[in-house]
Amino acid sequence: MKINIIVAYSKNYAIGKENKLLWHLADDMAFFKQQTSGKTVVMGKNTFLSLPRKFRPLPNRKNIVISRQESIEEHENLSWYKSLEEAISSLKKTGEEIYIIGGGTIYEQTLPLADVVYATEVNVNIEGDTYFPLLSPQKWTRQVLHSFPKNDKNEYDFEVVKYEKIRL
Ligand SMILES: NC(=O)c1ccc[n+]([C@@H]2O[C@H](COP(=O)([O-])OP(=O)(O)OC[C@H]3O[C@@H](n4cnc5c(N)ncnc54)[C@H](OP(=O)(O)O)[C@@H]3O)[C@@H](O)[C@H]2O)c1
Repeated sequence: MKINIIVAYSKNYAIGKENKLLWHLADDMAFFKQQTSGKTVVMGKNTFLSLPRKFRPLPNRKNIVISRQESIEEHENLSWYKSLEEAISSLKKTGEEIYIIGGGTIYEQTLPLADVVYATEVNVNIEGDTYFPLLSPQKWTRQVLHSFPKNDKNEYDFEVVKYEKIRL
């Protein structure tokens, strides 16, 4: 099973504040949609609740939410798991490719397991209350896939970067 992480962080690695994103980047939303459509997405409960109601669960994707509490919303496209281990071992049986879509607590716990990180690197320093861990160049190769300028659709300029874990 291939484990991908997909994230957008600022120059100082902020990813969110008060359970919201820190920017509006239409081209990044389009990349996220294209990359994850038809796949399984795994997220923490805060991230699930941060999605606008009309986008939750995310359409055309199998949504998995991790929470120690009982499920609070039901949908045919949505499954709840009480632990990450439980979710990952059940997904391993199907062999499907998964995308970890946040937030901070889930990224931190899954980074050691991930094969690839698709990182949108946003060209701004900004304060957040949730951060992404540092990707060490000793452990990850880095390849820029796309660059987008700041314009009326994208609040800041940014690059979409693919990091692949170096397997020794
Ligand atoms: N920039 C980006 O790419 C990006 C992407 C996603 C999210 N975000 C941002 O990140 C922030 C949310 O991140 P967050 O760290 O606060 O929350 P989160 O990781 O989305 O969710 C945390 C919750 O997940 C559950 N959880 C986490 N680990 C678990 C485990 N091992 N077993 C069982 N349950 C577990 C717990 O839910 P219970 O309390 O119910 O047990 C925990 O309170 C928001 O600001 C959001 O906008 C940014």
